[in-house]
Amino acid sequence: MVTELKQGVYWVGVVDWGLRHFHGHELSTHRGSSYNAYLIVDEKVALVDTVWGPFQDELIENIRQVVDPARIDFVIANHSEVDHSGGLPAVMRHAPEATLVVSKRGRESIEGHYHQPWNFKPVGTGDTISLGANDLVFVEAPMLHWPDSMFTYLTGKNILMPNDAFGQHYATAFRFNDQVDRHELYEEALKYFANILGPFCDLVAKKIDEVLALNLPVDIIAPSHGVIWRDDPLQIVKTYQQWAAQVPEQSAVILYDTMWNGTRRMAEAVGAGLAAEGVPHKQFHMALSDRNDVLTEIFKAKAVVIGSPTLNQGVLPTISPILTDLKGLAFQNKIGAAFGSYGWNAKSVGIIEQHLADCGIPVAAPGVAAKWQPRPDDLAACERLGRAVAQAIRQA
Ligand code: FEO
Repeated sequence: MVTELKQGVYWVGVVDWGLRHFHGHELSTHRGSSYNAYLIVDEKVALVDTVWGPFQDELIENIRQVVDPARIDFVIANHSEVDHSGGLPAVMRHAPEATLVVSKRGRESIEGHYHQPWNFKPVGTGDTISLGANDLVFVEAPMLHWPDSMFTYLTGKNILMPNDAFGQHYATAFRFNDQVDRHELYEEALKYFANILGPFCDLVAKKIDEVLALNLPVDIIAPSHGVIWRDDPLQIVKTYQQWAAQVPEQSAVILYDTMWNGTRRMAEAVGAGLAAEGVPHKQFHMALSDRNDVLTEIFKAKAVVIGSPTLNQGVLPTISPILTDLKGLAFQNKIGAAFGSYGWNAKSVGIIEQHLADCGIPVAAPGVAAKWQPRPDDLAACERLGRAVAQAIRQA
């Protein structure tokens, strides 16, 4: 359903209630998502972003409810990833005279994806395009979250369209932040930030400072996923500033996998040590848990304590993906620790500790390895590990 943001500015995107995985199967999206595209009807007509390819027909129909798609003069591709550019072939077929406005890196990527001789117009920070009464102003936003990412601002209407930034994978019946459950909204916004923008926190903070320094009036922040921020729109900007600072809670996450419950019992003993020191924690059995949800919890917490038995001289395969994610997401201001049972060869604890070091996560206390099923003294060592991690959290 087309929604008017302000007179002459329309949401013409698509809500994808059924989406459960994104980036292939890399990211879980329990609450679906939306692909937001914005149509601006001035003397000239502009479309800001499109939708994922499977929904291109819906996008064209939505545009048609407002104007003949052939009237589109400018298509702005703030970001070339296919969830926003997938509708470009259909849009450019319906609007063959349109100019395709991109960042310089966006041109490289869109040409690489679609191999089409479209009429490209690369723009940079501060460039403007007049639509008649109002102008589009562009701000490059490299690594928020791709090198090509760009924000578009509409003067007169005071609408910032920052593409992925400030978005959420959150399918909703209504389009605006004051119309949805606030707890769900922030849960999805944080998951999005931790899993997608996590490695770029320094750049997020700098870009926000740069945009705020422009002193542009902002009535609406209209991202490319999820709901549109119209009620106190700068609330999400301030929240991003806090998240980007990566000041963790005084809490811990224990994640583990287990073959015959030995490492599970060790996890519970580590948890008992944390609890005895009054430090809250959450435990996740990784074979049964959603990796992206666990990463969000790690993002919030100060400590990550990882357990695995030794299998084939390594860690269990359910542990490896989150170790890879921790390296790539490069969370800051964390401490870590390791534990695990073993039978013939005690390898897993050393592997996890080395991995933590490679991630820039200092080990708060030496890990605990227990041969076969943990004995009472092994479990006591795990509890001491939990206490040591708790004390390191409090001293940090
Ligand atoms: Fe980077 Fe929503 O795509």
